[in-house]
Amino acid sequence: MSANSRCLILAGPTREYIDPVRYISNASSGLQGMALAEEALSRGYEVELILGPVEYDPPAGAAVINVVSAAEMLAAARERHPDCAVLIGAAAVSDFRPETSHSSKRKSGGDDLDLRLEATEDILALLGREKDSRIHAGFALETEDHLANARGKLEAKNLDWIVVNDAAAIGRESGDYHILGADGSEHPLGRLGKRELASQLLDRIENPDTCS
Ligand code: C5P
Repeated sequence: MSANSRCLILAGPTREYIDPVRYISNASSGLQGMALAEEALSRGYEVELILGPVEYDPPAGAAVINVVSAAEMLAAARERHPDCAVLIGAAAVSDFRPETSHSSKRKSGGDDLDLRLEATEDILALLGREKDSRIHAGFALETEDHLANARGKLEAKNLDWIVVNDAAAIGRESGDYHILGADGSEHPLGRLGKRELASQLLDRIENPDTCS
């Protein structure tokens, strides 16, 4: 662990509201982020967990900042990033949001609705420009060309590590993982539980040279 032992973790889904009751989101449970927070706490890190809307309780001991949208997650992350040594982006940030969000509920029935979506900010890519000596890690959920796509994301977001998993892992207890390093390394981990994966990632973050 480094002298500054603050670990900032982004977790859970985001919600992008169409009107006061309808939103765009995804099936992320936030469990991977919680497992990362538990593992980091057990290693003595001060953990700040920026958490989208989830059903599960976050681990005791983590400072939790609840957010709803990608824009809120970005604002919270920007505020806390300068003080962290390690950033782990495990959130399933919504890639799109409605161009306009309506202040009153659209009536059901009647006409079809055209929904125009705009891209949300890429939180890890933006923070990657202000990385300095921090260690940044992210996740890539892929359905094809897993390793090549994930390496592209590692480079585009200026990450030190990226965990690659299959879309089948979403909302599940375990997954089939690889960890790729910015040094070109590739570590197939096989089937692991989320806490075991958290431990594997933190091992590499702490001792990049001693892990095979
Ligand atoms: O969605 P994508 O596959 O690009 O996600 C890869 C990594 O980037 C994940 O760690 C995710 O949390 C992060 N991300 C982000 N902001 C976004 C989209 C993804 O930080 N708008």
